[in-house]
Amino acid sequence: MYKLLKNICCIGAGYVGGPTMSVIADKCPNIIVNVVDSNKKRIDLWNSTDLNKLPIFEPGLEQIIKRCRGRNLHFSSNIRECIAKADMIFISVNTPTKKKGIGAGKASDLKWVEACARQVAEFSSGYTIVVEKSTLPVKTAEAIKSILETAQLSLGGDSKKSFDVLSNPEFLSEGSAIEDLENPDRVLIGGDNKKAIKILSNIYRNWVPEKNIICTNIWSSELAKLTANAFLAQRISSINAISALCESTGADVREVARAIGTDSRIGSKFLDSGPGFGGSCFKKDILNLVYLSNYFGLNEVANFWEGVVHLNNWHQHRISELIIKKLLGTITGKKILILGFAFKANTNDTRESAAISICRDLLEEGAILFIHDPKVDPNQISEDLKIKENIELKKYKEINYSEEGSWCSVINIKSSFKNADAAVVLTEWEEYSRIDWGDAAIKMRHPAWVFDARSIIEKDQLKSFDLNLWRIGDGSMVK
Ligand code: UDX
Ligand code: ADP
Repeated sequence: MYKLLKNICCIGAGYVGGPTMSVIADKCPNIIVNVVDSNKKRIDLWNSTDLNKLPIFEPGLEQIIKRCRGRNLHFSSNIRECIAKADMIFISVNTPTKKKGIGAGKASDLKWVEACARQVAEFSSGYTIVVEKSTLPVKTAEAIKSILETAQLSLGGDSKKSFDVLSNPEFLSEGSAIEDLENPDRVLIGGDNKKAIKILSNIYRNWVPEKNIICTNIWSSELAKLTANAFLAQRISSINAISALCESTGADVREVARAIGTDSRIGSKFLDSGPGFGGSCFKKDILNLVYLSNYFGLNEVANFWEGVVHLNNWHQHRISELIIKKLLGTITGKKILILGFAFKANTNDTRESAAISICRDLLEEGAILFIHDPKVDPNQISEDLKIKENIELKKYKEINYSEEGSWCSVINIKSSFKNADAAVVLTEWEEYSRIDWGDAAIKMRHPAWVFDARSIIEKDQLKSFDLNLWRIGDGSMVK
């Protein structure tokens, strides 16, 4: 049966489709994997000879691309041809929260998924297994199925075409995508056709132990993915809520996390208090659960999950307010160095990053932000903040107060401390733990503050320098 599967097409060359297909191609050299995308620029980047130009950064990805690209892994804009040749098609496109209409602000916008289903219905040939890879609201598979069936009928009921739809949600975490894909805790496959499930699970059997491949029905699979993300996000909101209480009571959130993490029922992972969760999935998936619960009249369930997102928003604003308060109640014209813009370390992704909301708050209050991130492109920061970069700022030797409410990007962290009133750590990039704070203290304007929202600075590390430290959830402030 495995021999049947020779050619895979993945629609969507993004953060999920790109790495997932790279690993499949790496582990299954006998299968041709074509990754297609309607965004030609993105495909060109995937094909760039300079591997630093790949559209996404993931540790370990470059090496796989080097091994497989041009061998059995291809990135192409020829969607029609790649769909036509495929025995199996993965749908891995964006499903952002709807901005308008019914369910706006909560439900997922499925227009890209629908467009894919229509493309598949039109261009595919013979028997094709369609696999939902993107995280989708429960019952999407049914919608895809009905599009495939009706579109097929409207095309004259071509009897040579037939489809099975499976759900195979991806649990990879950005920044460790390759490691997660190579050693998944589990692979989840939902569907009602045993033969199709077998064909898909045979791919994973090339490197995933049988016991880690869970097969279930399609709705449980779709709901399991939403639930996993909701549980993880809820853990972050729980520990962030406790961080605020720690600051008010003199406790330390790291100590609380250490103490509760040793309870095997709770576990020690995902208990790091930070600036609030970001990323493309958590908020979107919880809002999806909220929408679904409301739809079925389960308002208490909806309110429970909505509280997780509400707490996250509140927590981000709590941090900006606290920065303003510590900087003597005003940050107008003050220079603040922002360390990290990605939503977590080891990725260039900024979607829903806490840095966006915190930086927006600070700019609104008139701060002058110098923003550093080792992987995020300044154009992306402009897009996220909806304010163009003010490159003039880089030329000034002294602070120019007329530039309040603007920002520029930083390459050299060391020199950017000059005249800064504060530095704010928002992403846990490894290089920030190597900052020479003694040197920074000499360059900064005093009283100078360091705000560490990622616990990268040890409590006593700044003691001997003339710097005030605020750490997330630390009720025992240094000064
Ligand atoms: C998440 C899920 O982990 C993954 O299984 C799913 O497939 C997609 O969504 P991702 O968004 O890539 O993955 O990152 P994740 O590591 O889960 O972090 C999400 C956010 O929570 C980040 O902003 C991160 O900084 C924050 N976080 C995570 C914390 O603040 N503290 C923690 O202890 C862990
Ligand atoms: P994710 O994080 O889920 O991978 P991304 O936004 O990074 O999401 O990637 C989704 C990709 O899907 C984008 O590059 C987008 O251009 C592509 N895409 C969306 N709709 C279609 C479509 N109908 N055909 C081909 N590509 C599509």
